[in-house]
Amino acid sequence: MALLEIRNVTRRFGSYTAVNNVSITVAAGEFFTLLGPSGCGKTTLLRMIAGFDLPDSGQILLDGKDMVGTPPEKRPVHTVFQTYALFPHMTVADNIAFPLKMAGKRPGEIRTKVENALGSVRLSNFGNRFPHELSGGQKQRVAFARGLVNRPRLLLLDEPLGALDAKLREEMQIELINLQKEMGVTFVFVTHAQNEALALSHRIAVMNHGNVEQIDEPSKIYGFPINRFVADFIGKISIISAQVVEAAPSHLKLHVPELGEILTIGKEGVKAGDQGALAIRPEQVRITHPSEEQRLKNHFLGKVHDFLYVGDVTTYIVEISNGAYIEALLPNSSPGRAKFFEAGDMVGVSWRHDAGIFLND
Ligand SMILES: Nc1ncnc2c1ncn2[C@@H]1O[C@H](COP(=O)(O)OP(=O)(O)OP(=O)(O)O)[C@@H](O)[C@H]1O
Ligand SMILES: [Mg+2]
Repeated sequence: MALLEIRNVTRRFGSYTAVNNVSITVAAGEFFTLLGPSGCGKTTLLRMIAGFDLPDSGQILLDGKDMVGTPPEKRPVHTVFQTYALFPHMTVADNIAFPLKMAGKRPGEIRTKVENALGSVRLSNFGNRFPHELSGGQKQRVAFARGLVNRPRLLLLDEPLGALDAKLREEMQIELINLQKEMGVTFVFVTHAQNEALALSHRIAVMNHGNVEQIDEPSKIYGFPINRFVADFIGKISIISAQVVEAAPSHLKLHVPELGEILTIGKEGVKAGDQGALAIRPEQVRITHPSEEQRLKNHFLGKVHDFLYVGDVTTYIVEISNGAYIEALLPNSSPGRAKFFEAGDMVGVSWRHDAGIFLND
């Protein structure tokens, strides 16, 4: 049975629908992420799971039990917020002990559990400090320890790494994966950072304007986005308007005005005549000198419009016909090499017959 089941949940504020008929099931032990742009309804949904807010319609079930009459403190759920929400006048140990005290645990048990929790977030010698004596990353680890010390069935995390700098954020991401594995607690994690969602999650729900657009594993979300919104929100992607001229289970033949024919992977439900777009990731596109022989099925000549050097790789934006652009990514793997082409250079771009994906309009 699913640990958490969200059934057709809707939440309106006045005439505005913040969460629109959302259904999600989360299995026990899962690291599940709600991903979407600012204002799409992630926090609103999380608050309803925690019990701080109630749906206008629909149901939220935990272990098969409808939570409608259950107040937040009676739900087997704990929430970790971006702002840490530590008690400033309490030591680290007392902060972590707080949920145990509220639950009426004995002092001996509290001491052992707090020690274990401090160890699990690598803060064993920090129990006597106060929050203002900690770095941002340490504060966040205390918040995790406090969230996990009572072994909730479900831990809700609302952008918990949002306030940390990039390097620390990456470290904490790895710690979070390990913590979740060790503790076996089910996580519902909220972020608007797509790379974070891809790195951490077993499954992701991509949200937009209160709707769930797609629920899938990270590789499916990235490789097989269901529509333009998901394709565009997750990672970089080039989108080129195209029409289907031939549809087979294994492949699609597309027609792009001014460019000609493009082959891409087959997709269920797509038929000849459909209007839509080819979506293709920069790392799937090969960029070469125009004279080089093209071995891949789809190949065109183009002109470098612009490029973006980010250290490990350079992304080239290539104009392949009037108004159609495609991005190609090239690793800067040879020492000191920053770029291979200049803006204005003629280049060849090519990609495999099964690369990219067709998206219906
Ligand atoms: N109490 C409220 N009253 C009125 N409108 C609200 C209330 N809470 C949220 N909203 C609106 O509902 C929408 C969803 O808000 P929510 O906080 O869930 O977004 P979010 O996805 O968490 O965004 P962010 O990434 O910025 O945190 C927003 O347009 C917000 O203004
Ligand atoms: Mg939010």
